[in-house]
Amino acid sequence: MLIRPPRVDEGIAMWRIARDSQTLDLNSSYAYVLYAHDFADTCRLAIVDGVPAGFVLGYRRPADRSCLFVWQVAVDADFRGLGLAGRMLDDLIHDDSVDGAVKTLHTTITDDNVASQRTFRSLAKRWGDAPVTVNALFESEHLSLSGPDAELHDPERLYEIGPPA
Ligand SMILES: CC(C)(COP(=O)(O)OP(=O)(O)OC[C@H]1O[C@@H](n2cnc3c(N)ncnc32)[C@H](O)[C@@H]1OP(=O)(O)O)[C@@H](O)C(=O)NCCC(=O)NCCS
Repeated sequence: MLIRPPRVDEGIAMWRIARDSQTLDLNSSYAYVLYAHDFADTCRLAIVDGVPAGFVLGYRRPADRSCLFVWQVAVDADFRGLGLAGRMLDDLIHDDSVDGAVKTLHTTITDDNVASQRTFRSLAKRWGDAPVTVNALFESEHLSLSGPDAELHDPERLYEIGPPA
């Protein structure tokens, strides 16, 4: 198993993993390729037996380069529960080669995504028992069209983790 930044020619593999997750908002293939091109240092791809099995998309926040924002994380169903998401995230928070040390990690999670909540709370524990605060960020009306036929997107709560002790 290998964890490393994705290459441009692997953007489409991240798109495929996001599509197959059936949980994530699926972005355009262009978005995954763009992340692999412009933000590879703050993204990770997990490769198992030569095949992409999971990814993390992240970036350092422009207003605070010590804050890593994690936009999406996904692991193919066959490889879940093996610690891949945790290992990719650990690799990112301990990478100080981009903009210095990561002091805080921000992400958003919907209230029904227990696997994701557990993944980030578990990371906080490993990261020096870092504090975790949860606050409102993007509400359904920010993420959904209005109208009788509108499909409402669940609110995305902001999880702020760190700094570690
Ligand atoms: C969330 C996801 C990335 C976790 O990947 P994973 O590689 O299976 O996670 P890990 O094996 O590293 O587990 C991390 C922690 O979460 C827990 N966990 C993982 N899946 C869980 C589940 N379905 N229910 C409860 N806990 C779960 C693990 O037990 C572990 O906790 P521990 O460290 O205390 O033992 C994966 O389930 C997934 O791809 N889901 C679909 C996409 C998604 O919802 N992404 C998050 C929103 S951006």
